[in-house]
Amino acid sequence: MRQLTEAQKNRIEEILSRMTLEEKIGQMNQESPSIVGGFDVPFSELIEMLTDGRLSKEEFGKIMSTSQQDYHEDDIRAGRVGSLMVQDPAKVNELQKIAVEESRLGIPLIFGLDVIHGFKTVFPIAIAEAGTFDPDLMRKTARMAARESKAAGVSWHFAPMLDIARDARWGRVSEGPGEDPCLASAFATAKVTGLQEGESPDDPYVAACLKHYIGYGACESGRDYNTVNMAMHVFYNHYLKPFKAAVDAGAQTVMAAFNDLNGIPCTVNKFLLRDILKEKLGLPGFVVSDANAIRECINHGIATDDFDAGVQAALAGMDMDMGTGIYKNQLQKAVEEGKVPMEVIDEAARRILSVKMWLGLFDHPYVDEASMHQYDVLPQEHLDLALEAAERSIVLLKNEGDILPLAPSAKISVIGSLADQPEEVVGAWALSWRKEDCVSLWSGIQKEFANAKYFPCGGPEGGLNEEEITEAAAYGDVIVAVLGETIAMSGEASSRADITLPGKQRQILEKLLESGKPVVLVLMNGRPLALEWEDAHVPAIVEAWHLGIRMGDAVARVLCGKKNPEGRLSSSFPAMTGQCPVYYNHPNTGRPASKSKFTSRYLDAPLDSLYPFGYGLSYTSFDFSNLNVRDQGDVLMIGVEVKNTGERAGTTTAQLYTQDVAASLVRPVKELKRFAKVTLEAGEIMRVYFELPKNELGFFDNEGNYRLEEGLFRIYVGQNSRECLMAEIWEK
Ligand code: NOJ
Repeated sequence: MRQLTEAQKNRIEEILSRMTLEEKIGQMNQESPSIVGGFDVPFSELIEMLTDGRLSKEEFGKIMSTSQQDYHEDDIRAGRVGSLMVQDPAKVNELQKIAVEESRLGIPLIFGLDVIHGFKTVFPIAIAEAGTFDPDLMRKTARMAARESKAAGVSWHFAPMLDIARDARWGRVSEGPGEDPCLASAFATAKVTGLQEGESPDDPYVAACLKHYIGYGACESGRDYNTVNMAMHVFYNHYLKPFKAAVDAGAQTVMAAFNDLNGIPCTVNKFLLRDILKEKLGLPGFVVSDANAIRECINHGIATDDFDAGVQAALAGMDMDMGTGIYKNQLQKAVEEGKVPMEVIDEAARRILSVKMWLGLFDHPYVDEASMHQYDVLPQEHLDLALEAAERSIVLLKNEGDILPLAPSAKISVIGSLADQPEEVVGAWALSWRKEDCVSLWSGIQKEFANAKYFPCGGPEGGLNEEEITEAAAYGDVIVAVLGETIAMSGEASSRADITLPGKQRQILEKLLESGKPVVLVLMNGRPLALEWEDAHVPAIVEAWHLGIRMGDAVARVLCGKKNPEGRLSSSFPAMTGQCPVYYNHPNTGRPASKSKFTSRYLDAPLDSLYPFGYGLSYTSFDFSNLNVRDQGDVLMIGVEVKNTGERAGTTTAQLYTQDVAASLVRPVKELKRFAKVTLEAGEIMRVYFELPKNELGFFDNEGNYRLEEGLFRIYVGQNSRECLMAEIWEK
């Protein structure tokens, strides 16, 4: 793990000793290019005006065409900017030159950006990639993103997003690794390692920024930015875990979440930022606010004005202000009036300088001219990894009568407007891709199937075209219906109150099914959908998420059987929206759901999720047997026999869960502890072993103390969180 040397630490102290108060505060200020022109409302207001109809598209276009970007050159020169969000390498160098050559102390800027699931090579969205259950793949995709962005001057990724999310109504479930803390922790370690550790001394690396700290995924009712109330044992055992894993892996920075946690916005939450993150977990670098979040503390009703919000944030341990200018404009006064001690400013500046030093920016501030255009054409290795990640993220949800795979000669009608839109493959929060690199489903399918024909028929937005549906039903021997959500329907500010297939897509399916032709539903979406109807009526369902630039190739290869699906769900899928939040590792209740009336259930919904966490089918089948648990003192050795009972090679994911049957706090009904990918030839048998240290059977109480309690534990091993073998052990 790369760490600062003593010489580098001394260099930071030496620089700090020469900095004025204004320059230190300058480091704490992050700007993004703002738009200036012949109008006097902020850009965010302009967007709102466009959204709510006060401004027409034409008027908006006119304003934008006469506007210019302000890169804050004067402030950079005066040492009043520590960071910027820019991704054009030429611009990066131009601005960096001002910072390094024209500011008094020559402190370099750090350029940050949202690089969530790839930079130019866009990989599957995180909820999908987590379903590969393959940390090494997750590390490799992060590594590639780091190399590409660094070549463009971006050395700070606002990623990985580590929000545990249990409510699929929340649009940002797409950006994170799903509902489980163990899988999310493996994802966290893999991503931080991939971003921050090169494979050789010259391999470029970037600083990770873990987000959104913390609890954002638990926003009430899945409505974005909403309040979060959470018992502290849930905080420690579930939501904090991936952040801890990431800091343990060396993560340099963290972004605070927009929401409040139990009444205090994360942005000004001293307990979260100072006591837990910096002191307990030991974050080496700095904390940045989310966009505009310091000012939003006024809306939260926790600060009276900018000054108050800035003071509270600084005291709480918020080191960098994203985009409000409050630190820049208010902190000097706050220090002079004694509201914010000088040590607070020193600490923040020191932390920010230390990350810049760790990145080597003091010695290599510029983007190398030679590497700037290195990825203008994506190397084959990048395209290959994009394909591998996409293929391995696909989850086969249903395959009645083994409809899939389809014969390459099959007459196929491909329907759905999403199928022919290359830009729809990249998913929410992908910023740096080029359309020419994106493979749509229709274009991928044409490569594998000689007799495929495309009929748009309709999509998530708008209606349906009866005529095309009739033609599609008449042409194909099988219909591949590509339906789901546009990328704008998930991601930030994209919560949905009804997570069934949007628009008229259900009707499209109904009409296609009326034809009696077999239908394969291929889903493109950014969140678990409520698929009770589809599961009941459509014979084959493929969850293809938003898989990145090679999506079309990956889906086509699964449809024709060149790739045997192996992806698993990183989040439970509800049958109906009203079941949200639904997650496998829920706490016990006094009345566990059952068919009898007075139990924890809905009258009008199934007892459980439709597809559970960890679920996913294959073109072959697997059998798990002979679960055995051996007590080896401090460690449990758990073995299970896995057999490929089908007719082709395939990969399954063995999953180990535990349950603390009676404890001093109500515990989850099951918790994932380990997982292993198992690839077997047809008929092959393998014994899989898991080593589980007994101290992992404990849990955190509401005070954050770790407790290991004696008693009965259940050990479950299976192919998903629902279908498991079980053994019991007694721990003293
Ligand atoms: C807002 C989002 O919540 C966050 O995820 C992102 O990193 C910042 N804006 C910067 O774009």
